[in-house]
Amino acid sequence: MSIKKHRNDYYYKKAKVDKFKSRAAYKLLELNKNFKILKNAKVIIDLCCAPGSWLQVLKRELTDEKDLSIIAVDLVNIDVFEDYIKFIRGDITEEIIISKLNNELPRPADLVISDCSPKLIGAKDTDHARQIYLAECSFNIAKNCLRIGGNFLTKIFYGDMLDQFKKKIMKNFHSYRIFKPKASPRKSREAYLLAFGLKTKKFIKQ
Ligand SMILES: C[S@@+](CC[C@H](N)C(=O)[O-])C[C@H]1O[C@@H](n2cnc3c(N)ncnc32)[C@H](O)[C@@H]1O
Repeated sequence: MSIKKHRNDYYYKKAKVDKFKSRAAYKLLELNKNFKILKNAKVIIDLCCAPGSWLQVLKRELTDEKDLSIIAVDLVNIDVFEDYIKFIRGDITEEIIISKLNNELPRPADLVISDCSPKLIGAKDTDHARQIYLAECSFNIAKNCLRIGGNFLTKIFYGDMLDQFKKKIMKNFHSYRIFKPKASPRKSREAYLLAFGLKTKKFIKQ
């Protein structure tokens, strides 16, 4: 068995045992362990949330449910398992999603998390371009829906367009980090960008 397969199987099997809907759960758990991204987050937007393992992690990590409000979005339906989760079935690339989210938010969000992935076709550059487009749309939502000082986490795929995206992040947030969790297949070009402290609601061009 290849190393990659072994790693994938390990997290796949672990998710079954731990009753997570997918092994993506371990990526958020590790990101949170390293960067405390969920600390003090009460109002959260989860973009591209299906099948819902990040929502399970939020439930597990944010045990004090008082004032917790999570708005989750995906193209496909999910089982909503808590009253404090509102689900919007929609496309994050459509402008209207921002007004739908703002209608559901009790106040500007503390945290936007995005695990968006396009349907992969196996062509490196195309997959990269499509994924960065989803990360850009997530950033646009974060700009519109986060409070000043709020944080943003997004999946990224390495490739030519990443530098431009990082510049935009640097202008709009106080700092950022890129991290590849162990549950992310080693050979995949996937990683996660964490942006800390939105500077202003005004759009800053690069
Ligand atoms: C890797 S999965 C997310 C896994 C999720 N974080 C979890 O823990 O269960 C990627 C998701 O992106 C969603 N997606 C892709 N493009 C989208 C779009 N334009 N709008 C909304 N969701 C999208 C897919 O439907 C899929 O459910």
